[in-house]
Amino acid sequence: MLSKTIADRLKGFETPFYLYDIDLLRRTLRACADESSRYGYRVHYAIKANYDPRILEEIRSFGLGIDAVSGNEVRRGIECGFPARDIVYAGVGKSDKEIRYSIEQDIFAFNCESFHELEIIDGIAADMGRKVRVALRINPDVDPKTHKYISTGQADSKFGISYTEIDRIRERMPQWKNIEIVGLHFHVGSQIVDLSVFAKLCERVNELWAWFADSGFRFSYVNVGGGLGINYGDPEGEPIPDFAGYFAVFREHLHLGPGVEVHFELGRSIVGQCGELISRVLFHKTTASGKRVAIVDASMTELLRPALYQARHAIENLSGGDKRETYIIGGTVCESSDIFARDLELPVLHRGDLVSLKSAGAYGAAMASTYNLHDLPGAVYSDRLTE
Ligand code: LLP
Repeated sequence: MLSKTIADRLKGFETPFYLYDIDLLRRTLRACADESSRYGYRVHYAIKANYDPRILEEIRSFGLGIDAVSGNEVRRGIECGFPARDIVYAGVGKSDKEIRYSIEQDIFAFNCESFHELEIIDGIAADMGRKVRVALRINPDVDPKTHKYISTGQADSKFGISYTEIDRIRERMPQWKNIEIVGLHFHVGSQIVDLSVFAKLCERVNELWAWFADSGFRFSYVNVGGGLGINYGDPEGEPIPDFAGYFAVFREHLHLGPGVEVHFELGRSIVGQCGELISRVLFHKTTASGKRVAIVDASMTELLRPALYQARHAIENLSGGDKRETYIIGGTVCESSDIFARDLELPVLHRGDLVSLKSAGAYGAAMASTYNLHDLPGAVYSDRLTE
């Protein structure tokens, strides 16, 4: 990882901060763009994963669109130069203000998540004298085999339109004069490493697509969401996810007929491995049962994933050393879940040593909070580091 190779140059920065490897980001984007364009697929970057403008600048330069989940995310995409026509907007709860703003911007499509939302968007569009493109986000009821907090496409999740509602939508459609239903949208979950999940998704999409066609719907566009996972256990061994394998699954299993545009919404797989959270050791101590504890100056306010999903990010002591010790690595926040690792063997940690929490480019800085009145973490970009 980058931090280890430039550890001396990081010592002067105020910790904790995110370090972004821009070269790795570019190589990841190149792989994603090459493998998707092989089949004419279009990729929207799920901006929720990381909305840092410097990161977005790189992503834009590779021609990806944006998948947004709030009005402010749509705005950030536009402010960072993404054409509105390359922006899609999903989300179970869009406010009237967010809907109006996105209609004004003329984004590519709203991914609509309920009958009720379709009704509301039609009304707002009528009020504004506009016709709006929407895709129906259908809940495909596919098990993503991932953590339950990041599973979105199962029968009783809050996301998407249940297929039991589709008849009702079809009956109502002729009365919605201000929306044009251009396609279908799906998203089953995140951090999916078993590619057979995507094959299963394709089967469901094929079935639903055929069902819609039989019911008289003609769509030009399908959006199959995101979810491709990254290797948290071995980021050095697999810094770039298997985009070739991922897109090939869709090529092999998705059968929608000619002329249908296929779009994706990838977040974690684009930015996950290019970011590390750099933190400094503050204190160490020993528990009553003899366990060594190292307290670092980062916490769940900079990287929430371990506390929220019991996620494990690989950790490295950037100062190295031969003598090793087994640690509990704790953050500074007054919550017992604010633990980055247990039973982790590392070169002995001393006050002031820098540690890297790896694979933190996605859902790291983006989920940071000011709980305990912490400052938000800073960012350092590899291409802007001076010698
Ligand atoms: N499309 C939709 C509709 C989504 O809800 C998401 C993620 C994506 C695309 C992008 O998924 P990705 O390619 O990044 O897996 N905070 C959690 C992840 C939440 C994902 C939410 N939706 C985490 O840190 O693991």
